[in-house]
Amino acid sequence: MIKQISKEDTWELRHLVLWPDKDPSFVQMKEDDDGIHFGLYERDELISVLSLFVNGTDAQFRKFATLPSEQGKGYGSLLLHHVLLEAASLGATRIWCNARANKAGFYERFGLRKTTEEPFEKNGVLFFVMEMRLL
Ligand SMILES: CC(C)(COP(=O)(O)OP(=O)(O)OC[C@H]1O[C@@H](n2cnc3c(N)ncnc32)[C@H](O)[C@@H]1OP(=O)(O)O)[C@@H](O)C(=O)NCCC(=O)NCCS
Repeated sequence: MIKQISKEDTWELRHLVLWPDKDPSFVQMKEDDDGIHFGLYERDELISVLSLFVNGTDAQFRKFATLPSEQGKGYGSLLLHHVLLEAASLGATRIWCNARANKAGFYERFGLRKTTEEPFEKNGVLFFVMEMRLL
């Protein structure tokens, strides 16, 4: 089941999956107040989280994380698909993300494209800005 959740509900998975070596506060963003947060649950357990930020016709998704033991089973794809539809229904015509370089292929399968040939580095991780149009 996919549903909207609070920003606080995303923080534990974000920390565990994305930045386990940083302080838990590292994954708490001031922008979270302006986001729409989604969680995928299986038998009442939170498996995957993703946060959406809509700014007019532009939308960004951030902080996508699936519980390590549940990765590679299709949960993240279900959640991303849901959020792409949600962004379009909220009026976004373009969606983008800072994609970890090792996940570019995953996002390309959804139709997102790299906006540059070279990645950029932040906090020791390589990222591509990726985007797609929404109809
Ligand atoms: C990126 C992430 C959120 C995706 O969530 P997920 O639940 O693992 O997503 P899926 O299971 O739908 O897809 C992951 C992979 O498993 C594959 N897969 C999905 N279902 C599958 C199945 N039934 N059998 C075999 N492979 C499958 C997908 O094709 C995909 O392959 P790829 O990574 O080579 O493109 C998750 O891997 C994650 O948390 N990674 C670490 C943090 C991270 O990198 N976050 C994204 C930052 S941009």
